[in-house]
Amino acid sequence: MRADGSVREGCREALRDRYLAVRDATERLAEPLSAEDQQLQSMPDCSPVKWHRAHTTWFYEAFVLGPRGVAPVDERWARLFNSYYEALGARHPRGERGLLSRPSAEEVGQYRRAVDRRVVEAIERCADEDLDEVERLVRLGCAHEEQHQELLLTDIKNALWCSPLRPPYRTASGGPGAGAAAGELAAGHVVFDGGLQSVGAGADVVFAFDNERPRHRVWLEPFALDRAPVSHAALCAFIEDGGYETPSLWLSDGMAWVRESGRRSPLYTEWEPGSLRVYTHDGMVEADPFAPAMHLTLYEADALCRYLGGRLPTEVEWEVASGHAATEAVNDLGTGLLVSRAPALGAAAGASRLAGMFGDVWEWTSSAYGPWPGYEAPPGAIGEYNGKFMVNQVVLRGGSCLTPPGHVRRSYRNFWPAATGFQMTGVRVARSPGA
Ligand code: AVJ
Ligand code: FE
Repeated sequence: MRADGSVREGCREALRDRYLAVRDATERLAEPLSAEDQQLQSMPDCSPVKWHRAHTTWFYEAFVLGPRGVAPVDERWARLFNSYYEALGARHPRGERGLLSRPSAEEVGQYRRAVDRRVVEAIERCADEDLDEVERLVRLGCAHEEQHQELLLTDIKNALWCSPLRPPYRTASGGPGAGAAAGELAAGHVVFDGGLQSVGAGADVVFAFDNERPRHRVWLEPFALDRAPVSHAALCAFIEDGGYETPSLWLSDGMAWVRESGRRSPLYTEWEPGSLRVYTHDGMVEADPFAPAMHLTLYEADALCRYLGGRLPTEVEWEVASGHAATEAVNDLGTGLLVSRAPALGAAAGASRLAGMFGDVWEWTSSAYGPWPGYEAPPGAIGEYNGKFMVNQVVLRGGSCLTPPGHVRRSYRNFWPAATGFQMTGVRVARSPGA
């Protein structure tokens, strides 16, 4: 309900349609997977597909239905499908989600449909005075479920990679090369003046996570940003030049990570001189030399930037520069490629545009994940969503080829620990003019 007492026309219908579309999209991502596939948990950081389907469902019970007096479908399941909300009770250990054979994948499907009926009823029948709050929570639940759609894809990729047969996630697709964009490749960099700038989500942004607010001013020195992310070709040059064995290119923690992991090329790659093969949702393929390098840890991203004569951008530099991004033909989950592709500028794009800022790969920044000035976590259990993770993680920007369409914004802040490689992560080189 508006402040003047009116209720927006068509609000309930639009909200129901948005909800049902997100719910359906999750189920379609699980479709190529058998019940056995959906049960796999390859490591504590990854969850079974079945668990993602159930956890996203539990979220609406915990935050939309429960507070409105609707009883849970099965009161024992909160313990299984609550991820990390201390305020909502005891939880099954994260690393043991793969041990939950019951409820079955089939029963999780029934759970989803039962909750869908209840949420649709809440949307259609809630009191006019409650509609704003229901809308706020359902839209948060939808954005949450979209985050888990990407996680579902990254987690099943990790699980399937563990088989020596390197099975594909799906069988029918156009293949990774099918969508490669034609046209001028974005080379070089764009220079930005810096000065007094504003970042963060303002009142004009209809939906944003709490960690994107408040909008605030920042001071920036001049900087430059490469027009395209670091490519497989640049990664191959780095490997051939002995990049992984050159301590001067690495942060101390990065060199320690190289030694401990024994890595000589990124996760999901097979390197032989002259050939870089990458594991994708379609199985092993030859890497496209012009496509952004994928599955980089922050350490590899940092070393690559140094090798290429630059540095990681800060998240504020990235956000300011993103106002100059080409936004046509974004390679997100909507293309269905599930792999990065060579970023090309449309015919109309000028030489000052940045390519591939949104979609393809999440771009590592040098910024520690922390609160924007004036940030306060919302009260109650929902305050645990983002705020309590604001230590020991690094911000990534821009979305990936696995991110649902429309999910990200210029102000969107993803975050992972530095050694994370199983997400769809890459990097874009920043440069300090005159440095
Ligand atoms: C922003 C991707 C790090 O995986 O914990 C899912 C997203 N938050 N459920 C995470 C999230 C709550 C989050 N990341
Ligand atoms: Fe979650």
